[in-house]
Parts: sequence; structure tokens; C-alpha cells
Amino acid sequence: MLTVTTIAGVRARREEVGRTGVRIAFVPTMGALHDGHLALVRRGREIADEVWASVFVNPAQFAPGEDFARYPRDLEGDREMLAAAGASVLFAPATKEIFPRPPATVIDLPALTGGLCGAQRPGHFRGVALVVAKLLNIVQPHVAVFGAKDWQQGAVIRRMVADLDMPVRIEVHPTVREDDGLARSSRNAYLDVDQRRAAVVLHRALQRGAGAAAAGERRGAALEALLADEVSGEPLARLEYAAAVDPDTLQPLENVRGRLLLALAVRVGATRLIDNLLVEVS
Ligand code: PAF
Repeated sequence: MLTVTTIAGVRARREEVGRTGVRIAFVPTMGALHDGHLALVRRGREIADEVWASVFVNPAQFAPGEDFARYPRDLEGDREMLAAAGASVLFAPATKEIFPRPPATVIDLPALTGGLCGAQRPGHFRGVALVVAKLLNIVQPHVAVFGAKDWQQGAVIRRMVADLDMPVRIEVHPTVREDDGLARSSRNAYLDVDQRRAAVVLHRALQRGAGAAAAGERRGAALEALLADEVSGEPLARLEYAAAVDPDTLQPLENVRGRLLLALAVRVGATRLIDNLLVEVS
């Protein structure tokens, strides 16, 4: 696997590879890789000839006081995991390479970012959209693969790519879970033993909501209340939001018909965890 740290280096490699007609799948990450990321790499290998990944902890998507400084970093470990999973190129730029000056450009999708994590983390999705647009422009992949755990992020990126006619297909891959249902996340590394046990409450709450929907509950507010009730039963957990929304528009659903996204953000100790479940009701 080739490791590249400069934009010029990626462009040179991209031009070389482009001449051979090779199709590229891109997996952008912030590192601290786990099996959820590797599933994206494996998916990339199924749908393209080469997988290119990036590791860049993007300062633009962290608000002051969030965990940018202590976000887990292990570039050597990431490199080994990506190589073992069959990635061909790792782009691992320094902050100055991506942001040599404070950006004057803003990419904002207020229709999709007013609720859920966007409401809790103002500016977060502007930072995500900007860096993903830059990475897609630099790498110019045929397809980019993102995890479904960050559902709102996937919706924002899909819409940005459509609105800006960016020549890339966006694929969202199912969430990878631990045996007890906890969604794989780099932030799980922050949890101590008791918090790790408590964190399963997100999955339990989503299952309870999905069960109620399957049993006929169609009121979005009632489903949200069920999620919140389950979280409130876990003393180490503090609910940030529980939502029942349309999976495409992310707008709250008064009455559920067809597809429904149940979504949660919960603090376990100081760690903010998110998860969601796509539910199909007949
Ligand atoms: O999902 C992530 O890890 C990040 O938000 C992303 C897409 C790599 C942008 O920094």
C-alpha cells in the first residue's frame, strides 16, 4: 500500500492510475480504525478495482471544547489495518496540507442539518461537507463509501454531491456492531468497563422502538418517547436526542408510513455516542 501525504502526490498517482481505466473506491476516515471502517474497505474492494482511504482528523468538524485534541490517533496501526484489508493507497495529510489558510468557503445544507446531530453540534456538518468536498476533489474516486451509523452525514454528503454535480457515487454501508449490539465507533475507546456495559442501551432502545413499530405503533412522538424511556433506565446514560424521522429528508414523522429512521444521541459519561436503525413498516 502506498502512503501519500500531499495533495500533489495523490493527484500524480490518480493521473497515473486513471490512464489504466482502474475504478477507485474511496473510504474517507478520521483514523483510529476498527472493523466498521474495514467493512467499508472490503465493500470498496467488491465494487471497484482499488480502494483508496484517507486518515485525516478534520479540525473543521469539531467545535471548541469538543474532543479534537484527544481524538484517538494511531496512524501506524491504521496503516497496517488498511494494508491488511487490501487498500491500495492511504492519503494521510497534515492539517496544513488540507487547510493551508482558514477557508472562506462554506458548504451548508440547512434543510438537512437543522435537527438531530446538527442541532446539537452547530457547524459540525459544514466542517464535514467542506472536508469531504475537498477530499473528493483531490482523490476523484468513482465511488465513495460511508458508514450508516453516521446517517445524517451520509444524507448530507449524498445531497451535496447531487446539488454540486460531483462525478462520484455515494454508497452507505450498514453499521458494524459488537456482539452485544453496540455500534462500532472510534469513540468507544473512551468508555471504561461500566460505561461500555451501559452503552448497549442505545441498541436496546432502538430495538424497542423497532419492535413497537412492528407491533403497529405509527405515532412518531410515541416511538421517540419509547426510545427516551429506555435510555432513562440506564443510570450512566444521558439522552441528547431520540428521533423518529424520514430517512431521506430527516424531518420528524408525525405518522409513520413506509420507511422510518429511529435515531439516538446519548452521552455515556463524557462520551457522545450515536446510533440509528432503519425500519420498514407496511
Ligand atoms: O465519518 C468520518 O469519519 C468523518 O466525518 C469524515 C467523513 C471522514 C470527514 O472527516
